[in-house]
Amino acid sequence: MKTVTQINDLRATINQWRKAGQKIAFVPTMGNLHDGHLSLVDDAFMRADKVVVSIFVNPMQFGANEDLDNYPKTLAADSAALTERGVNLLYTPAVKDIYPRPLKEQTYVDIPKISNIICGETRLNHFRGVTTVVTKLFNLVQPDIACFGQKDFQQLFLIKRMVEDLSMPIQIIGVPTVREKSGLAMSSRNGYLTPEEKQLASVLYSSLKYAKQYIQQGHKDYKHIKQAMQANIEQADLRTDYIEFRDANTLAEATQDTTNFVVLVAAFIASARLIDNIEFSI
Ligand code: PAF
Repeated sequence: MKTVTQINDLRATINQWRKAGQKIAFVPTMGNLHDGHLSLVDDAFMRADKVVVSIFVNPMQFGANEDLDNYPKTLAADSAALTERGVNLLYTPAVKDIYPRPLKEQTYVDIPKISNIICGETRLNHFRGVTTVVTKLFNLVQPDIACFGQKDFQQLFLIKRMVEDLSMPIQIIGVPTVREKSGLAMSSRNGYLTPEEKQLASVLYSSLKYAKQYIQQGHKDYKHIKQAMQANIEQADLRTDYIEFRDANTLAEATQDTTNFVVLVAAFIASARLIDNIEFSI
């Protein structure tokens, strides 16, 4: 696997592949890779000739009180895992390459309304940071295809919207969430947890499955289902941030007429904030 940090080197390699008519798939990451990321890589390989992965811990998407400084950096292990997977190119830019100006003066990409709901309600400007960095990375890599995890449902939704709104010629693929045996969704933030805390955190997925089952049985009292989920989550010593019942196609709040659902949850355990979701139809 070739690793590049400079924009010129990245572009030179990509140009060669383009000239040879090869299809390029891209997996942007912040590193600290786990099986969830590797499943994005595997998916990318099924769709393209060359796979590019980026590792960049994006300061623009972290709030003032979040874990930017402590975000785990495991480049050697990440690089070994990607090499083993057969990745063709790893791009590891420096902050100054992605943001040539101080963050407050930097051009950004912001999707109104839907960036400021659900996760965006408490993580101010988080999604602006995501859509800005993904735009920049798309401009640099110019992939045909880009793969994102379904675990970050709102992020995936926003990126699809951005690509459509800005006519970016990139196919966005949502890849199913990879889970531990307990059902806990794989996440870099699970690394902050002890084995016991991980076991407790699996309540998030079991409560989502409960909501799905209940709604599919014809129950429509979302408030009641939410209360039951919250009680369940808090019994396992997690602190609920939100539980949301939304229309999976629009992200609008679910109504009595909704048929395609996504139920999303965020909760704190120890120093970690975990998210998960379940999508289903009735
Ligand atoms: O999902 C992530 O890891 C990040 O939000 C992304 C898409 C790499 C942008 O920094």
